[in-house]
Amino acid sequence: MQKFVYEYATKVYFGEGAAREHLAEAVSGYGKHVMLAYGGGSVKKNGIYDELKAILEAAGKTVTDFSGIMSNPTYAKVQEGAALSRKEGIDFILAVGGGSVIDCCKIIAAQARTETDLWEMEMTDHKFPTDAIPIGAVVTASGTGAEMNGGAVITNEEKVLKAGLAAFPPRFAFLDPGYTLSVPRMQVISGAFDTLSHAMETYFGASDEDNVSDDVALAIMTNTVINMRRLLADSDDIRVRGNLMWDSAMAENGILKVGRLTDFQAHQMEHQLGAYTDCNHGQGLAVIHPAYYRHIVKDAQEKFRRFGKEVFGVDSAEAGVEALADFIKECGLPTKMSELRSKVEITPEILKKVAETCNVIPCGPRKLGRDEIYDILMECM
Ligand code: NZQ
Ligand code: ZN
Repeated sequence: MQKFVYEYATKVYFGEGAAREHLAEAVSGYGKHVMLAYGGGSVKKNGIYDELKAILEAAGKTVTDFSGIMSNPTYAKVQEGAALSRKEGIDFILAVGGGSVIDCCKIIAAQARTETDLWEMEMTDHKFPTDAIPIGAVVTASGTGAEMNGGAVITNEEKVLKAGLAAFPPRFAFLDPGYTLSVPRMQVISGAFDTLSHAMETYFGASDEDNVSDDVALAIMTNTVINMRRLLADSDDIRVRGNLMWDSAMAENGILKVGRLTDFQAHQMEHQLGAYTDCNHGQGLAVIHPAYYRHIVKDAQEKFRRFGKEVFGVDSAEAGVEALADFIKECGLPTKMSELRSKVEITPEILKKVAETCNVIPCGPRKLGRDEIYDILMECM
């Protein structure tokens, strides 16, 4: 283990009816003017918007809506939200949605408090925001774990880059599995695959073995697979949705990552694939992971062997990778590029651009070259 400082920044309220019971108390310490931010309208259809707005107004808050945050949120949407926050003098942002809404709000919150362009600040000057409007999250679709960390993945359409920006984590997060019941089964599965990916990418990053994080990561992977299978059998089972919701938070709240290197090379490839195609994040990962792992399985034989045995009950490193590929099929997730929903046809030229522009992670079992990244992506065609 390497040196680390760890602080738990987000207060979590988990369970059915959590917002009804605790939201008024959670927002009570913040200013009067609340921005209620959400996506393309699911929260209006399922009643979550009305419920939360009524709670906020009963708590004496003035509410300003910010709607239309898209999946794979854009930097232009961030700027729109930051401008609205400044104009309305927003004191607190309540992000209601999945990872896209929560991420967009994290960056809106920081951009609203500085005149400096946040993308340039972080990507060019390698500086980070020091101030932000406080935010809270109400999770309506789980998978990313965005509600318990300070990172945000934003698509800069002008630069054709999808990248992680650092900001501040939500002060609190509401995780009510009942709020996720209207999420279509395929979106739940896609989000859960993202969770599985986070635990795998963390587990395969470290070269030191027998640390407790590996054990916890394997437990999260095993539990996620069990609950994904249960969800396939009964997608209305609220206990399953709740289990997946907490798996999601556990995998990406930072607890697995302390004191160790992580991989996240599959994520880097997927994010840039997303920049070109706008594909669903979990589904892009499902396509890329098996091909990537076939390339690196020889570089981390013991870790892959343990992964295969504990998560899928198979006997060798290679069998572990193939069991993962079979599980992706079993879930009905896409297995090749042509099965992804994409705004453009995914051609070798597009994949070349993805390979040329994605981040290359220096650690992981082995650092990849860009030619090999291109080969991996082409093997997903
Ligand atoms: O926009 P609406 O109408 O709300 O519909 C959404 C959206 O279409 C729908 N949805 C959400 N709650 C619903 C619901 N539909 C019915 N009932 C509900 N209760 O679900 C769809 C997907 O939502 P989205 O937020 O885009 O999905 P997800 O949570 O998978 O977030 C993906 C984004 O998070 C980033 C991804 O890159 C992607 O941009 N990530 C963020 C991370 C982080 N901050 O830690 C880590 C991840 O690795 C990931 O990169
Ligand atoms: Zn992810």
